[in-house]
Amino acid sequence: MITVITIDGPSGAGKGTIAQMLALELDWNILDSGALYRTLAYFMKENNINLDNFEENQNLLKERFKVSFDPGTPGEPVKVLFENEDITSIVRTEEMAKLTSTLAAEPVIREFIKPCQRDFMQLPGLIADGRDMGTVIFSDAKHKIFLTASLEERAKRRQTQLKRQGLKVNMRTLLHELEERDRKDTEREHSPLVPAEDSVLIDTSNLKPEGVVKEIKTYL
Ligand code: C5P
Repeated sequence: MITVITIDGPSGAGKGTIAQMLALELDWNILDSGALYRTLAYFMKENNINLDNFEENQNLLKERFKVSFDPGTPGEPVKVLFENEDITSIVRTEEMAKLTSTLAAEPVIREFIKPCQRDFMQLPGLIADGRDMGTVIFSDAKHKIFLTASLEERAKRRQTQLKRQGLKVNMRTLLHELEERDRKDTEREHSPLVPAEDSVLIDTSNLKPEGVVKEIKTYL
């Protein structure tokens, strides 16, 4: 039996940081499902694959779409490895996020990515970060966490992250983009962003990452 801890929530709620801290501390596998969707969006763009020709490119996709993650070091984003390349900085931009969010609303995309996500369930355990980890992909997970934070706090965190990557961002634009992405993710028909009924809700607005991990440990 492989234990899975799911961590869902909107952008900037702290999922990535907390998933990374838990994965490093427990020495478990990590699935950053947002990055998986982002990598698929990137791969599709690079290979001129769109929703109209998605089916006819199934073989190419199945053969080449193999992503792995390295939890990396605290404070740095989880590394995304694809075709022997570290594509972290390519996929973690707001532009990629916007494109990804549109694609992720499509059932054909979600169905394709479902088995890729389940493949990450390996010993000794898995920390799965996303939007539908606890509701759809690992609905029978033993432990489910749903992180939230105020929009302003989430935008501030995203700004810090992007600055660290050397990207300049306007706060007003960022607030607008986050709000728009949240709306798309929450209102979509397929696998919308909602807390699983059996999840534990943690508002991280006024907590440091260590405080969030402490709360999670108390719950575990
Ligand atoms: O978490 P991240 O910001 O990297 O996710 C990018 C986008 O991927 C989200 O805005 C959402 O549209 C999509 N996503 C999803 N389901 C997941 C993870 C991410 O639809 N489990």
